Amino acid sequence: MPDAASWQSKQQRRMMTKFDVKRMANDIITRTGFKGNTAIVLGSGLGDFAENFDNPTVVPYASVNGYPKPTVEGHAGEFVFGDLNGIPVMVAKGRFHYYEGYPLSVVTLPIHLFSELGIKYLIITNAAGSMKKEFPPGDLMLITRHMDCTFREKMADPKWIDRPPYYQPEVLQAVRNASEKSGVKIVEGGYCWTQGPAYETPDEIHYYLSIKGTAVGMSTVPEIETAGDTGIHVVGISCLTNYAAGITDQPLTHHEVMETADRVKSDFAELIKEIITQFGAWK
Ligand code: HPA
Repeated sequence: MPDAASWQSKQQRRMMTKFDVKRMANDIITRTGFKGNTAIVLGSGLGDFAENFDNPTVVPYASVNGYPKPTVEGHAGEFVFGDLNGIPVMVAKGRFHYYEGYPLSVVTLPIHLFSELGIKYLIITNAAGSMKKEFPPGDLMLITRHMDCTFREKMADPKWIDRPPYYQPEVLQAVRNASEKSGVKIVEGGYCWTQGPAYETPDEIHYYLSIKGTAVGMSTVPEIETAGDTGIHVVGISCLTNYAAGITDQPLTHHEVMETADRVKSDFAELIKEIITQFGAWK
């Protein structure tokens, strides 16, 4: 059971729903002079990616008027602007999860801000549990479809979303090309968004498997849907950090999630760099 104070702050966060995104974007552009059209959201344990940037400028979320502050270990809470292979890029290190008590308006705020900043290409990354024995921890998975498994609104079986504007054949192909070019292997599959904050039970995983899920995680789906709806070319990549509950007899820990993400971070960085180069070639 949450204690009274944390329950109250959860309720306050749920109420905080109105944002002046234009003002935030103007503030950021004034401070950074950013003129790029590519953004990346970095998931749990993948935050080091911005170390690859030339000429980085850090903008802490707390310094952007009205922007919320994330609370999960492994999430720094800052934007970094810089150049990757000469291409201007911004990253968001740290995100807002539904399970932290934020309303979807907060979870998707970064995407609305990206849109206001002129972002046209977005790579969303996350850590996820693998439900497929053949995809061991350390594999990087291109998300080719997703399903909302939070059961927030109804108890019916969730449906797969696998079409444009969320999944565009040319965007998926750009990632496959990037994999081939960089030599970083990817696998492909469907991502099930669960509400969290607890990891799933083996019975829940059994059910997600029965409806053909490949990976399971607690983020990304609201962001992919918002990005597609605002006309951004979006791609989701999961770092499979562990086998989902019940797939092996190993207990599942946040430590394993962070450790695996750390182990694959250089491969992951190479893949992302090449995806950005592929997107850059479309302009
Ligand atoms: N389940 C849900 N979220 C996750 C997992 C998992 O097994 N691993 C990393 N994020």
